[in-house]
Amino acid sequence: MRTPVFELHIRPMFRATDKAHMGFAVDLWEYDDVVANADDILERLQSDMPPTGTGGLWPEEWITLFKRWKDGARKRLDLGTAAFTLQQTAAKTTITATGTFPAADVEGWLQLESETDTSKTYVLYFEAPDTPVGGTPQLFTLKESYPSTDTRSVFIHSSSGTQQLH
Ligand code: HEM
Repeated sequence: MRTPVFELHIRPMFRATDKAHMGFAVDLWEYDDVVANADDILERLQSDMPPTGTGGLWPEEWITLFKRWKDGARKRLDLGTAAFTLQQTAAKTTITATGTFPAADVEGWLQLESETDTSKTYVLYFEAPDTPVGGTPQLFTLKESYPSTDTRSVFIHSSSGTQQLH
């Protein structure tokens, strides 16, 4: 069964309004905060959070997923390290990330993290295998494309911070 991962399966269950209202006690979008308060969060999810009239309780499957993550490895992703380029053709714009994974069997990808009317931010994620394997770390070339009619600025969020690519 797929191991639940904070950035992929847990954080997306918390809405912006949940993060905003709970900021006085816990930042629901921050891994360390959610880990530190995981037992209390589960207890509230099973009783009264999110409150009736503001969306109401989660479906049982979501609570079970949170519990499985909390009781398991509490897995998370890492920000990746790479060199980035941006190529434009008449049809599409392509962001390319190249580098070497930090260990064997690590997977990596670029994904859109946020966007505004004038800019988009992509994040480079690495996911380690559940059980470390020996072997030689692989070189990678990761690409993400979008129609060239989209002329917004592009930012990349990686282990080096956030840099503007275009
Ligand atoms: C550590 C566990 C938690 C505690 C102690 C807690 C406590 C509280 C308290 C005291 C309030 C009332 C204050 C206010 O409205 O700003 C509140 C509101 C709220 N909580 Fe939590 N909460 C917890 C977890 C959660 C979680 C996990 C979610 C979402 C998944 C959530 C969603 C909300 C929302 C949406 C409101 C606003 C309700 C409104 O607008 O009336 N809370 N919480």
